[in-house]
Amino acid sequence: MYNRGATKWQKRFTKLRSFRLPLLITFMALMFVVVILGIDKKKPTSQLGLMTQNDSNLDDESVIRFDPTVEILNGTEIIWQIPNSPRSVLFLAHGCNGKAANFWDKSTNCDHCVGLPEERAIVLEAIARKFAVIAVSSKGKCWSLMKETLVVERIIKWWVKKQNLESLPLVALGASSGGYFVSMLASKMKFSSIVVMIAEGVFDQIDVTEHYPSTLFVHMPKDKRRKKMIDANLEIMRRKGVDVAEVQCLELPLTPRFLADRVLGLDLKNSVQLFNLFKEKGFIDKNGYLINDGRVIPWKEAMSERKISLPNKLFVNYIQEELNLAFAYHEMTSLQSLQIFNWYESHL
Ligand SMILES: *[C@@H]1O[C@H](CO)[C@@H](O)[C@H](O)[C@H]1NC(C)=O
Ligand SMILES: *[C@@H]1O[C@H](CO)[C@@H](O)[C@H](O)[C@H]1NC(C)=O
Repeated sequence: MYNRGATKWQKRFTKLRSFRLPLLITFMALMFVVVILGIDKKKPTSQLGLMTQNDSNLDDESVIRFDPTVEILNGTEIIWQIPNSPRSVLFLAHGCNGKAANFWDKSTNCDHCVGLPEERAIVLEAIARKFAVIAVSSKGKCWSLMKETLVVERIIKWWVKKQNLESLPLVALGASSGGYFVSMLASKMKFSSIVVMIAEGVFDQIDVTEHYPSTLFVHMPKDKRRKKMIDANLEIMRRKGVDVAEVQCLELPLTPRFLADRVLGLDLKNSVQLFNLFKEKGFIDKNGYLINDGRVIPWKEAMSERKISLPNKLFVNYIQEELNLAFAYHEMTSLQSLQIFNWYESHL
């Protein structure tokens, strides 16, 4: 998502990918959970200004919040969060230029956390569904399949043991470079199921047997080359007896509200300004569909030309991610969280 050069991007997409993708359904589901379980139940007490510790609605069943722990293990950063009564363990692998800190909002526990819209939504959904979450940062820009699989395998095993989670099923989600990485890791250590996002995996480099974990490909078919490879892998893996499925993520039209709805802290005024600017500049067509990836259209230049100012610099990354998501070529996505977590839960 941080790639700058447009032409380079076009050409090198297959090699380097920032991975991150989407979220409407999750967001709405979460809002629903928060509103129905949290705010609604708490209303009587909060209206009276009485928030007592006895209030049974204040336990973690009703309030899903970020509470990460950051650790450095032998020079590798891990960030994790365990809900009460976890039922499963989820390992998250970012894409190129990503890091574990993208998955949690900035807080006193994690000052360098960035909370990218799609990443944070995946973690919130995971916590709500009682998955203990561990994200690891790659050493380089992208994951090294050769050097890091053993490192990460050791880290996950060490952490799972330390946290007494050994009896729980282990699942993984990797996007882009993280998708290749997870597909490789799953040939070396035991997962109940995995999600390979916007990546075809490295199934040509590993020996896939019927013991390979159930694999869900979450991908953006606008990336036709990748779609072809995923189609081929689905067929090959199916024939080998692996439970496989795919979820296709399609482009979304921008609306005046789109960015405000999806980027926490971006107000409607900014969202409308940007929408109008995009329309005026021809970045979106008459139906609101982006004409190119957020990494390619010069929206940041147009924004500064127009002197539109954002709450802070991070919002450029947030907005870019959402534009990439709407264009639906190559981005992390939380929009399919329902399918993703149902996949895990039906394969525990
Ligand atoms: C909170 O719980 C304690 C012990 O169960 C009880 O004595 C107290 O009255 C409760 N307070 C309120 C405000 O319900
Ligand atoms: C850290 O490094 C030591 C020494 O190489 C190794 O024995 C240990 O397993 C590593 N710890 C983790 C969590 O990878």
